[in-house]
Amino acid sequence: MSTDTNRRVEQPPLAEPTTWHEIDLTVNGRPVSAQVESRLLLADFLRGRLGLTGTHLGCEHGVCGACTVLIDDVPVRSCIILAVQAAGCAVRTVESLAEHGDPLSPVQRAFHEQHGMQCGFCTPGFVMTCTAMIERTQRPDQDVVADELSGHLCRCTGYRNIRAAAEQALDERFGTREAQ
Ligand code: FES
Ligand code: FES
Repeated sequence: MSTDTNRRVEQPPLAEPTTWHEIDLTVNGRPVSAQVESRLLLADFLRGRLGLTGTHLGCEHGVCGACTVLIDDVPVRSCIILAVQAAGCAVRTVESLAEHGDPLSPVQRAFHEQHGMQCGFCTPGFVMTCTAMIERTQRPDQDVVADELSGHLCRCTGYRNIRAAAEQALDERFGTREAQ
């Protein structure tokens, strides 16, 4: 048995030096300037630094979709992108859809009316992906809708009502499929 009780345990070296960056971006339409570490994830920046906790973190591996936000109108998983990569971009989170006291956005209302949520943990991600869909110039076909929703996991509701909510929001934006 070793008697070397004073053995010093060295810290393992960092894989890369920590560097700080000045970034400017817009978040929910407001200009934001911040100093961020190289490794700071966008999700942690939004939640921890800006207090926008509507963006949820589930898997933190880019699998569940709960952390989805829009960057320049494109759905992106904020758990696998660095805050510094959003510099110069327009980021939108679920908080941008209806400020306190505002009516729900069409997608939020559709989720409410179609019972597209239970615990709501996955909901912000679904809502942001659906928001990007209704902002397109043309209605995505059903296969595209199914494909985009398939990138999100829900552990409680099941997907039928979520799909119905997406279709309701698309119907309201583009007209019903039958009428097209
Ligand atoms: S928390 Fe980002 S994809 Fe799951
Ligand atoms: S509503 Fe609970 S995880 Fe989707």
